[in-house]
Amino acid sequence: MIDFLREEQVKPEIIEGILKFREEHSVTDEMCARIPKPKYLYYGKEIWEEAAVALLCGKNLLLTGPKATGKNVLAENLAAVFARPLFDISFHINTDAASLIGTDTFQNGEVAFREGPVYRCAAEGGFGVLDEINMAKNEALAVLHGILDFRHVIDVPGYDRIALSGATRFIATMNYGYAGTRELNEALASRFVVIAMPQISDAYLNRLLSSQFPKLKEKYAGQFTELFFDIQKKCESGEISTKALDLRGLLDAVTLMEHGLEANCALAMGIVNKSFDPVEQELIRDVIRERIPKKLEREKMFSN
Ligand SMILES: Nc1ncnc2c1ncn2[C@@H]1O[C@H](COP(=O)(O)OP(=O)(O)OP(=O)(O)O)[C@@H](O)[C@H]1O
Ligand SMILES: [Mg+2]
Repeated sequence: MIDFLREEQVKPEIIEGILKFREEHSVTDEMCARIPKPKYLYYGKEIWEEAAVALLCGKNLLLTGPKATGKNVLAENLAAVFARPLFDISFHINTDAASLIGTDTFQNGEVAFREGPVYRCAAEGGFGVLDEINMAKNEALAVLHGILDFRHVIDVPGYDRIALSGATRFIATMNYGYAGTRELNEALASRFVVIAMPQISDAYLNRLLSSQFPKLKEKYAGQFTELFFDIQKKCESGEISTKALDLRGLLDAVTLMEHGLEANCALAMGIVNKSFDPVEQELIRDVIRERIPKKLEREKMFSN
């Protein structure tokens, strides 16, 4: 992973900082298994630098942005680069303090504290991904304040106050304005530095396609990249909604093509049918028609 950062020309002093952090913070054998080995790499040098510097400064990160902008991929990549155990903590409407920090349970007839994921992450010096943080009720999140600010402690009523390990960081993700999301309250937002995640650039998308699909011919990696940005333009001009602007859907479609589905059929499944409005579907098909021939089979797109 460090080599990847060098290839991406992330500033050498930042890479040095990360290596020093790794030296200073060891990992127990038990926790080693939690250090992620990412399947996907995050492309975007500026975002890498911003995120790494923030974490090196001891800050918690809030990654905001539309769907499929790589928020979780980046969070996982960061834990890998910093060589820290990753704790994935998903937020939903019923998230409460006990599910985050822990709760009393009965074990062999005695009351014992069962540690929640935030507690474990803090004690082990992990990187905790607070996924979709704005799905939870704000009241439930107040319990995080002391953990996220300068106090760096977890206070469990009836138990000791524990101090966070110096390597602990929290990386929250949120999708703003989608159904089911809430306004994040200011007190909580104030405890993070925020990165607004951009949509991937065309050069990076081209590289992403070529690295995820090594057999995809260059010409078609180019075509699918262009297609993605054609759809983006239609969204920006307000002709279609953002439902079809879905990088995850495009990657799924190319996977289906690699496994033998015809291109238009795969794009319907990955992109067009994400809109449930027939008029909009037709507009998206028009965009695809401009780029992709009618019957485009696997043999044409992929080398063997
Ligand atoms: N800049 C990028 N570099 C590499 N991959 C990217 C990038 N942006 C998006 N992706 C790809 O998009 C897909 C979705 O990534 P991820 O799950 O991290 O998105 P997300 O922002 O968490 O989305 P959501 O808000 O829907 O949860 C992955 O396949 C990822 O590889
Ligand atoms: Mg996500």
